Amino acid sequence: MCGIVGYTGKKQAAPILLEGLTKLEYRGYDSAGVAVSDAYGRIEIAKAQGKLDVLKEKIDGGKTMHGACGIGHTRWATHGVPNETNAHPHCNDDSTIVAVHNGIIENYAELKAKLIRRGYQFYSQTDTEVATKLVDYYYKKHGEPLKAIAEFSLRVRGSYALAVLFSDYPEEIYAIRKDSPMVIAATGKECFLASDVPALLKYTKNVYYIENDQIAHLKNGQTSFYNIDGDPVEIPLTHITWDAQAAEKDGYEHYMLKEIHEQPRVIKDTLGYFIQNGKIDFSELNLTDAYLKSVNKIIIAGCGSAYHVGVAMQYVIEDLARIPVRVELASEFRYRSFISDGKELVIIISQSGETADSIAALREAKSRGLKTLAIVNVVGSTIAREADFVFYTKAGPEISVATTKAYSAQLVAGYLIALKFAEAHSLLSDGQYRELLSELCLLPEKIKTILEKDTAIQQFAFHCMDKKNAFFIGRGLDYAVSMEGSLKLKEISYIHSEAYAAGELKHGAISLIEDGTLVFGILTQDELAEKTVSNLEETKSRKAQLAVVAFEGTEVPKSCECVFYVPRTDARFAASLSVIPLQLYAYYLSVSKGNNVDKPRNLAKSVTVE
Ligand code: M6R
Repeated sequence: MCGIVGYTGKKQAAPILLEGLTKLEYRGYDSAGVAVSDAYGRIEIAKAQGKLDVLKEKIDGGKTMHGACGIGHTRWATHGVPNETNAHPHCNDDSTIVAVHNGIIENYAELKAKLIRRGYQFYSQTDTEVATKLVDYYYKKHGEPLKAIAEFSLRVRGSYALAVLFSDYPEEIYAIRKDSPMVIAATGKECFLASDVPALLKYTKNVYYIENDQIAHLKNGQTSFYNIDGDPVEIPLTHITWDAQAAEKDGYEHYMLKEIHEQPRVIKDTLGYFIQNGKIDFSELNLTDAYLKSVNKIIIAGCGSAYHVGVAMQYVIEDLARIPVRVELASEFRYRSFISDGKELVIIISQSGETADSIAALREAKSRGLKTLAIVNVVGSTIAREADFVFYTKAGPEISVATTKAYSAQLVAGYLIALKFAEAHSLLSDGQYRELLSELCLLPEKIKTILEKDTAIQQFAFHCMDKKNAFFIGRGLDYAVSMEGSLKLKEISYIHSEAYAAGELKHGAISLIEDGTLVFGILTQDELAEKTVSNLEETKSRKAQLAVVAFEGTEVPKSCECVFYVPRTDARFAASLSVIPLQLYAYYLSVSKGNNVDKPRNLAKSVTVE
């Protein structure tokens, strides 16, 4: 949700800032801006409404701005409509203090009123202008950036990754974060900061993750870190294993298509990492068998697709490991006074590791004394740092707002966790265990065969361009996949879509079925397939258009206009295969409608606000 970048070094800053923002545009794309400071501390600001390209054109790729130090921002509007006035950077009245911000200042109205009483004027509707002027106020009071920023952090409530230029300190950047991500790097000649690693990969793979309310000072190719008392603090260097190429499109038209096609590799890498000598090895997670045995209940929380993975995991863990699982929307979790015996394991699933609601769920669990396991893709992210145990998926950087490969990697993490619990509770014979592991290892090749059938899916998607409504239905694990298929469709094609447990349709939603309504049935759970087929027939009788994703050899309704068969696997792992045609379907439908596939309207990749 908003991306920020910063650079100070020997080169012209503006082109580097724009390049960094390009890598972060997935975080927000309704306006953008940069501020560049020259060696004398003169700060110039440029902003534009709309996508980053508008700003790039306005400043000729950065050539019109001069100076070797600067900050930049790409916005996902929270306070105030997306326009140039509300775009960041924001500044004090004489542009001597300029800031970019990602997050939300919750008490901004109260702070704004105080600042107005002290003579400040405001031009935008943003909380960031308030933050900038508050820093200005404390800078005037203390005369030192460090003290000004520290006092700012004591006065504001909410989340922030804030980067500030002070014209009294040319070619230096000050930054602070709380509950919004920020990575910092220094190469000896240059310093960088960004909301996410892809913006830095071209320059370095060694980064610092600062903790809440730590202040960073970037100067002369070196960084120093302080706590809010102004004492220096040491921050360990983290080495990133992703390479810059992984965050490129690699010849694909969109990141989403590239990421869909990366899924066999991602699953292979995740399995390859955690299966050693024919056994699941969780030594990296520090999850001991004794602890696994002591867990009597599991709670899973996540948002969006991560929540859908949780729904699938619930079926798999309960079936394989016989441990009761409850799945919660992370955004709701902390508002329930749930009953706990203190022995539950809370699993938080998040690609970014920065989703505000998921962080809040994690902290709620910890405050109740519960152990937490994070399934996270981004190394060093907040959730990864705060959880007791971390399972890092090996999906690599995911750029497209609509998740595909991270979802698939999370599913595989779920299977491995389920099997590990089953093993710890002695519920599987050696033969069963081996068979399930080898079935898992066949998934990448099976996905490849589905990806090869891409043309048929593409053709069907193009026929559906004018659809207004769609339903995805299934039972059991097929229902979990329906949820994901439906979300994929709606978020990038803007077609209204709902997922329904197939048996539930007749209790209300069937009244929405009319001539041509698309109903997608998922049929991979053999013992439930017949029943779902009956539910599909019921919609057909109301003139729905039927499509189906089914295991090879499944009887499907004759009236189906389109059937996508996927290879068979153990029914518990079926989601990894059945989701692929649904991802491709959503992708091609979005392409056919001319939508911005990778950056769908109103969305952002990482939702760092509540
Ligand atoms: O980074 P996270 O996994 O925590 O993100 C959770 C959701 O915001 C995310 O899955 C969202 O629903 C995606 N846009 C779905 O494609």
